[in-house]
Amino acid sequence: MTALKNDRFLRALLKQPVDVTPVWMMRQAGRYLPEYRASRARAGGFMDLCMNAEIACEVTLQPLDRYPLDAAILFSDILTIPDAMGLGLYFETGEGPRFRKVVDTAEAIEALPIPDPEKDLGYVMNAVRTIRKELNGRVPLIGFAGSPWTLATYMVEGGSSKDFRKSKALLYDDPKAMHMLLDKLAQSVTSYLNAQILAGAQAVQIFDSWGGSLSSAAYQEFSLAYMQKIVNGLIREHEGRRVPVILFTKGGGLWLESMAATGVEALGLDWTCDLGVARQRVGDKVALQGNMDPTVLYANPAAIEKEVGRILESYGNGPGHIFNLGHGITPEVKPENAGAFINAVHDLSAKYHQG
Ligand code: CP3
Repeated sequence: MTALKNDRFLRALLKQPVDVTPVWMMRQAGRYLPEYRASRARAGGFMDLCMNAEIACEVTLQPLDRYPLDAAILFSDILTIPDAMGLGLYFETGEGPRFRKVVDTAEAIEALPIPDPEKDLGYVMNAVRTIRKELNGRVPLIGFAGSPWTLATYMVEGGSSKDFRKSKALLYDDPKAMHMLLDKLAQSVTSYLNAQILAGAQAVQIFDSWGGSLSSAAYQEFSLAYMQKIVNGLIREHEGRRVPVILFTKGGGLWLESMAATGVEALGLDWTCDLGVARQRVGDKVALQGNMDPTVLYANPAAIEKEVGRILESYGNGPGHIFNLGHGITPEVKPENAGAFINAVHDLSAKYHQG
């Protein structure tokens, strides 16, 4: 394997010294880039894009060709797992993800198969291998999956939801059935992430996008416990290097201590957390990734730079910070504003890494 030319992202995840703070953006390959929209149109639909290793590789590299980002993230989606379980994922234009089949009874949950990642999700592993080859050591490649709870909400609701009405009703009406679903998902996510690692992913992130919708007690029992199972089952060394794990619970600011206790290398933070306070709370246990409000990118470059400076100052001196947005970049952002953000992180952070 080619040696990494830029490993600041992996070093920061392990709290090792870096020259400047590494930066990447959740959803960095996406509709705010005209070149992404062109590739997507050429592929046909969103899933055609995910299933074509060459085009998935092309869109993964597009943001890296525009900006000096410190990591690439596999172009795919968290909903590939429910699709491989037979739910039939599709995207209606302007409507977000939908499933042909809904899984909202104990019987339906019992009948769900656990996908074999190389067989049923081989297109994802092909994309990982293709991207690693094309990256040729430029920056590390991040693999990812959704958390069991986040995936369960889509499967029970049949798509996106504002209030999680059906999934939360199932959780309280039939906790045993919900646990069965979450357990199957934890097994599926573990083998899926391990297959991504073996195919070449150099770090992995678990997206718990909807963990923050739960009560504190339900978060521990129905989201964190299953992410813990995943973390316990992951391959942590590959190609002679640690494979760091990042846990991102959106809205999880109240639970950082218990998230850090899972044994992951890093926590992703949304913008509602104070980064300096978060650092004090987790101490030396984990690195922190985040946490600029993505809507700051609608402001002008001077305002973006000011906010980047404020966040760097709040983390303070030393390694262990990976700059990111607190959630995904949105389609309406001007590409030049994303560039101003990334350059500001590198330009303004050197002084926090001296000595
Ligand atoms: O970050 C990256 O660049 C890698 C690619 C990536 C996508 N989805 C591509 C995508 C990643 C990491 C995801 C994760 C994902 N997908 C999450 C967790 C992260 C988060 O935002 O909380 C969730 C909840 C999903 C489910 C999903 N996929 C939704 C709700 C949507 C529709 C939302 C929208 O923006 O329209 C998708 C589709 C999707 N996944 C798009 C992209 C670029 C837009 C599809 C398009 O091209 O039309």
